[in-house]
Amino acid sequence: MFERIRSRLGRGSQQTGAAVAEGNIPRHVAIIMDGNGRWAKTRGLPRVAGHHSGMKTVKRITMAASELGVEYLTLYAFSTENWKRPKAEVEFLMKLPQEFLAIELDELIENNVQVRMMGYKEDLPDYTLDAVEQAVRRTAGNTGLVLNFALNYGSRKEMTDAVRMLCEDAAAGLIRPEEITEKHFEARLLSNGIPDPDLLIRTSGELRISNFMMWQLAYSELWFTDVYWPEFTEAHFHEAIGEYQRRTRRYGGL
Ligand code: IPE
Ligand code: IPE
Ligand code: MG
Repeated sequence: MFERIRSRLGRGSQQTGAAVAEGNIPRHVAIIMDGNGRWAKTRGLPRVAGHHSGMKTVKRITMAASELGVEYLTLYAFSTENWKRPKAEVEFLMKLPQEFLAIELDELIENNVQVRMMGYKEDLPDYTLDAVEQAVRRTAGNTGLVLNFALNYGSRKEMTDAVRMLCEDAAAGLIRPEEITEKHFEARLLSNGIPDPDLLIRTSGELRISNFMMWQLAYSELWFTDVYWPEFTEAHFHEAIGEYQRRTRRYGGL
């Protein structure tokens, strides 16, 4: 497998061929795909051109993650706060899943990728939800990389909802408050069943979490780059993973 990665990297990015070591691949990589608008601006293009270009990066990094044997790739595609953007931009973003899947779904299936969605379905337009749900259905039996789209996702809402569910269960006598553990809370998060991210990547130079997986990232390794998402390549991805492999995770221990 690693020979294959090196030979792929041979096309112009040799120096990163050695960046990823054998073994110790993060099981779950989460990415805050940021900087599409600024990328477009530097080229004198409309912001949406950046979102469109960012779609190609999604494809590239999905394949790179799949080849490395990453088990889960969570991509922050739209936050619960992104509705604040101008209507036309929101509409454009809502049309991207449909376009992306129309182009890429067959190849994702060929590569045994399983598509999932993590987010609030109720506010999404029908055409967005239909496209995503169809992809989820068609790939449900696949056993390769789980490509988890965080779409209309927000950590505060996720955690508030989990607390509400626990309160309802307690009020209904299904659980006693003193019995509640982290496991009960986690089971009510949208990420239920998915391990915590081992590595979080954020592009575009912003050094913040922006309401993304705040519970799940408690012990994730964080890696930031100034590169805008449309320019993020396999080589950058390998660089992040290489650095992850050189870190020591202690989880509060020694
Ligand atoms: C990330 O790029 C995509 C989404 C948040 C949907 P941005 O649109 O945030 O790009 P910048 O940060 O304005 O450059
Ligand atoms: C985070 O990026 C959301 C996504 C990448 C989908 P934003 O661009 O919305 O974050 P802020 O507003 O800069 O914190
Ligand atoms: Mg941004």
